[in-house]
Formats: sequence, structure tokens, C-alpha cells
Amino acid sequence: MADDIKATEDHNSSSDNTLAPANGNEVSIDSLARQVQESLSLAKRHKFWETQPVGQFKDLGDASLPEGPIEPPTPLSEVKQEPYNLPSPYEWTTCDMDSEEMCNEVYVLLTNNYVEDDENMFRFNYSKEFLRWALRPPGFYRSWHIGVRVKTSKKLVAFITGVPARIRARDTVVTMAEINFLCVHKKLRSKRLAPVMIKEVTRRVHMENIWQAAYTAGVVLPTPISTCQYWHRSLNPKKLIDVGFSRLGARMTMSRTIKLYKLPDQTVTPGFRKMEPHDVPAVTRLLRNYLKQFVVAPDFDENDVEHWLLPKEGVIDSYLVESPETHEITDFCSFYTLPSSILGNQNHSTLKAAYSYYNVSTKTPLIQLMNDALIVAKQKDFDVFNALDVMQNESFLKQLKFCPGDGKLHYYLYNYRLKHVLRASELGLVLL
Ligand SMILES: CC(C)(COP(=O)(O)OP(=O)(O)OC[C@H]1O[C@@H](n2cnc3c(N)ncnc32)[C@H](O)[C@@H]1OP(=O)(O)O)[C@@H](O)C(=O)NCCC(=O)NCCS
Repeated sequence: MADDIKATEDHNSSSDNTLAPANGNEVSIDSLARQVQESLSLAKRHKFWETQPVGQFKDLGDASLPEGPIEPPTPLSEVKQEPYNLPSPYEWTTCDMDSEEMCNEVYVLLTNNYVEDDENMFRFNYSKEFLRWALRPPGFYRSWHIGVRVKTSKKLVAFITGVPARIRARDTVVTMAEINFLCVHKKLRSKRLAPVMIKEVTRRVHMENIWQAAYTAGVVLPTPISTCQYWHRSLNPKKLIDVGFSRLGARMTMSRTIKLYKLPDQTVTPGFRKMEPHDVPAVTRLLRNYLKQFVVAPDFDENDVEHWLLPKEGVIDSYLVESPETHEITDFCSFYTLPSSILGNQNHSTLKAAYSYYNVSTKTPLIQLMNDALIVAKQKDFDVFNALDVMQNESFLKQLKFCPGDGKLHYYLYNYRLKHVLRASELGLVLL
């Protein structure tokens, strides 16, 4: 997935000058250029994506088209049995993430070549434990962890993955592939390798009799089901400013900024504690009930909750509220750990970021629950807490001093049409 790594907002923003620092309201060339590009990309040709069963720009707003699969499944015997052809210097490899050696090769490829912010100041640095967690959920297929090597040197130069998931769109639960970690080595860009990789993962998904997929990207492709925005909550404002992630607001000093973002040392909600294995059934009930209200959301069962939400050191943190009186589990919050490498800074090499995952409030106000999540993230030494404006997140972002980031995250479905573009608040899905 590509998303926005960095904040650029008036008083929490980078040198990107989305809003120029000098006079506070001048719109920068950069930001104008981006806006023009975005509007143009609606008209831009997509030689590959135009051939795929995805919503096409020309069909936007055509309410006569039905919701659901764009193409019916083909008989399995008609699915192409051999891999797609790669340009001759390259060969396919299946990446066994159980193997320390393979996992390390994937880690190195992504660490050096995966998603960067627009100004190339930060690059996602998914940890090996995170990659193993993300790629081995219940029912995963090893064949969907696809690498490309140079035949002669065996160097791993490209990667794409899928994992199975049940995703509900309105009333229909559909088994889909969640596609992620598409990456082509920097030296091999713009050679049309990505379309071959996408076709190959699609073929391997079809081989398992699965015909739909969900994915996110920072780029506009045909056609987003929804467009979201990242918001950033500074936990360590001094470091964020030092590394250019954010900048001092107008009329702000460093000490006022530090004071502004200061959090209590301890969480405030009685009964707030870490999720434990015995909580899986209660958390599953809570989450299933909560996610019903969104148009598109995962259909989690207990196995999924055990995998995706039980705390895993340095990967996923989950907390809940157990009523001190009734011992009922009433609220839940979670965030995953995704650091970014800081490119070319003398003093700091890693930005430690927490990403809001699934949160459910029934008794504790969401704002108080999320404030407790910020407090534990601060205790755990995260520099920043990020959240998309999905689900009910908008209700706490501003009050808890999150600032909007400069990029957008677009959500897509493959071979599944929705009649209308969704508001971010209608989305109940977070992809890693
Ligand atoms: C994304 C990446 C793999 C694309 O490779 P590339 O060499 O730039 O592009 P290629 O020439 O191989 O292919 C271009 C096609 O891929 C499509 N494409 C580019 N990025 C894409 C994405 N993130 N998801 C799906 N398709 C994408 C393009 O739209 C184009 O198809 P079109 O002509 O129909 O529009 C590469 O730029 C990369 O590794 N970037 C850094 C990591 C990253 O951003 N990964 C994507 C996370 S969502």
C-alpha cells in the first residue's frame, strides 16, 4: 500500500510548504502542481488498468450499472496454468516467509525500495516480524507471496503479495485477496514490470477460486471506492520538527509546542488494559457488532481476531476496557507499528510511528479511549500516532490534536463494483 508518511499542515508540517511558512496563506507551487495532476489523472489513460475488471472512470456516476462482480468467475480449468512471461533477465520466485533468509531478502528489498513521501525524506521500514504477521494470516497461501529475481545473480528485485480475507460489501460477504507490498527495485522502474506482477498475483488468486481483491494506493487509478486522508498526532514534537516531519507553527516556540502535545503519564479509563488471549471471543463479538455499520468492512471471526488483534511485541498493540464492576469488555482500541527510515538526517535514522487500526467504543467515549491509546503509544516511545479518517475517526482527530497529512490514500476493489463512491466514514477497513 502507498500512503502518506508525513504531515504537512500549518502548525505541524514539513518543509513541503503546502501552506507556505512566510505569510501563512500562500499556496505553494508544489501543492498546486499536485492538485492539477490529480484532476488530470482522472482523464489520464491507464493502458494496463483500462484492460482490467475494475470500475472505469467513464462509468463514474452511471447508476444503471449493478453492484457486485464486474465479471463472473471462469471455470478453474480455464485459468491459465503457467506463470506470465517476465522479460528474459528475470524469473519468478515464491517467497517462503518462514525462511529467515527469504524473509531477510524481502525485508532488504522493501527497506531500500518501498514507499517514500513526495519529497523522499522518509521511507516505510516494515520489520521482519511485521511482514511475517501481515503475510501469514489464517488460511494464507504461500504461492501468493511472489518475488522476481535476476536470473544470473539471483538478486530479489520485485515483490507483490496477497492474503485471503472475507470482506463485506453492504450485505454480501466476499472472499477476496488483500494485495499489498507491490515493490519494484528503483533501478527497474517504468519498465512495465508492475502490470505483469499484478496479472501474476491475480492468476494465482484465481487458481484458489477467488475472484475479487482489495488494495490501497497513494496514486489515483481506475477507480477508487473511497479516498481517505491520514492525520498525524505528534508525540515527540521536537524530534518530528528536527527531522522535517513537521515544523513549528506560526507564533509557536519549541517549548510551547512540546507543552501543547504533552500527555498524561498514565491512562485515565478505569479497567483499561492490554488485550489477552482469553479476550478473543469478547473482542470478536464487540468488533463484529461495531463493523456492521460500515458499507465495506472485514468479516472477522475469532481466528482472524486472534491473528490480527492479539498483541505482538513491536507489531500490533491492542487494549480494551473491562468494566471493573461487571467485567464486561465494553471498548477496544489497537494500533500497529510501522517505522519509517529517515533519509539523510545526521541525528536520527528511524521515525517510530503507530498507526490506528480498529477501535470500538460502546461505553467509554471514543475520544477518551483514543486519548488513552495516545498515552500508551507515548509510553512505548512512539514519535507519532497516525490515523485515517475512516470509520468514526473524524470524531476525535481535531480534538486530540491530530493534524491532516499532505497525501491521500485511495481504496480499490478488483472485479467488484459499488454504485457510489464512499465517504471515508463509510469505510470500516484498514489495510496494512
Ligand atoms: C509501484 C511500483 C511497483 C510501480 O512500478 P513502476 O516501475 O513505477 O511502473 P511500471 O512501469 O512497472 O507499471 C506502470 C503501471 O503500473 C500501475 N501502477 C503504478 N503504481 C501502482 C500501484 N501502487 N498499484 C497498482 N498499480 C500501479 C500504473 O498505473 C501503470 O499502469 P497504467 O498504465 O494502467 O496506469 C514502483 O513504482 C514502486 O516500487 N514504488 C515504490 C513502492 C510503492 O509505491 N508501492 C506501491 C504501494 S501501493
